[in-house]
Amino acid sequence: MDRIADLVGEHEAWRSRCLNLIPSENVTSPAVRAALGSDLGHRYTFRVDAYLHGHVIENAYRGTRWTEAVEDRVEELLREVYSAEAATARPLSGHIAGVTALAALVPKGGLVMALLPDDGGYDGYHPPHLPDLMGYTAMDLPWDGSRFQVDTEAAVDGIRGARPDAVVINQSFVLFPPELEPIDEACKEVGARLLYDGSHTLGLIAGGHFQPDAVERSDLLFGSTHKTFFGPQGGLMVARDPEVMARVRASFTLTTQDNAHWNRIAALGVALEEMKVYGARYAYQVISNAKTLARALDEGGLPVRYADRDYTESHQMMLDTAAFEERTGMDPQTLAIRLETQDIIVDAMCRLGTNEMTRKGLVEKDMATVADLVIRASAGEEVKGEVHALVEDLELEFTLD
Ligand SMILES: Cc1ncc(COP(=O)(O)O)c(C=O)c1O
Repeated sequence: MDRIADLVGEHEAWRSRCLNLIPSENVTSPAVRAALGSDLGHRYTFRVDAYLHGHVIENAYRGTRWTEAVEDRVEELLREVYSAEAATARPLSGHIAGVTALAALVPKGGLVMALLPDDGGYDGYHPPHLPDLMGYTAMDLPWDGSRFQVDTEAAVDGIRGARPDAVVINQSFVLFPPELEPIDEACKEVGARLLYDGSHTLGLIAGGHFQPDAVERSDLLFGSTHKTFFGPQGGLMVARDPEVMARVRASFTLTTQDNAHWNRIAALGVALEEMKVYGARYAYQVISNAKTLARALDEGGLPVRYADRDYTESHQMMLDTAAFEERTGMDPQTLAIRLETQDIIVDAMCRLGTNEMTRKGLVEKDMATVADLVIRASAGEEVKGEVHALVEDLELEFTLD
């Protein structure tokens, strides 16, 4: 029978040779991994008054001196990196961050506007998911498919007309940032909370190269810490107003989660230290690589959407899978499987992302090679050896080690 350690070893050896273009994944530095493997991963702390067994207990666990020091410093780093007034690293994931924000800020039976999955919105905010679990009604946030962006005018009209309790910016497919200012103003007019789920773009926002007004122009910015943000898998939240954060914070312990996983939080702190030093350069490079790769693929015969807008302002690009299928008869899932046979990893939606390979040190001049390998692999050519030669010996960039 296979031992787990052997399976993990096989996985690591294989993935170290693969070209990973999945936009929701990234790799962490040795220092982040060390924090993940630390004793903090064995511990609890509440630090809040919790109602336990019929009593309010101030801090239910002892032995938490350093755990608490870690949390304080991580929150400080979050406030610095995002220029925010308040922060928490407690959410266990981007999804849990969203659940907790909605639980704290939307009344029972409330109305929430969010982008539909068909428009690239994260599915979780629509039925049969969170509305069914939490008892809110979901309606669509208007979308302009021709520009692949929130339809600002229609969104403002929609907010004024429907008067929702919250509006969620929930782009899973993200090329261009929404125009937040008019949306924020409309939300303020009707008393709606504007929640920015930046799961995909938190690393680019941290580096200052995507949606620089995300904190100033929303009630809460939150999301995953492992997509463009090169931290451990988990979540974070930052806000312009400490009172909003205090309300959300009260919804974690014993409501949407119990232990916050302190090794993860320490590891996030290490990634924040890296982000503080290298975030701007990293984010610039990710986006520049995305634009360069999109153009190289499109000009090389694998069609990419939105050439008229220079393809993207984020880490992602969208293959024109309909045009590709019409020409080759190959649907996106088949294409993804074919690429995997050559150790090129993409998701079944065929949105490609440059975050992980940028972290591994690839720059604009390498994008022609990446595009060539993807195009030839999609045509059925054997390119595995060339993929390994490109990826195998790369050293992680943007780390403090
Ligand atoms: C916009 C958005 N929110 C939330 C999530 C879920 O994040 P996590 O996997 O960290 O729970 C995703 C996942 O892809 C996402 O794209």
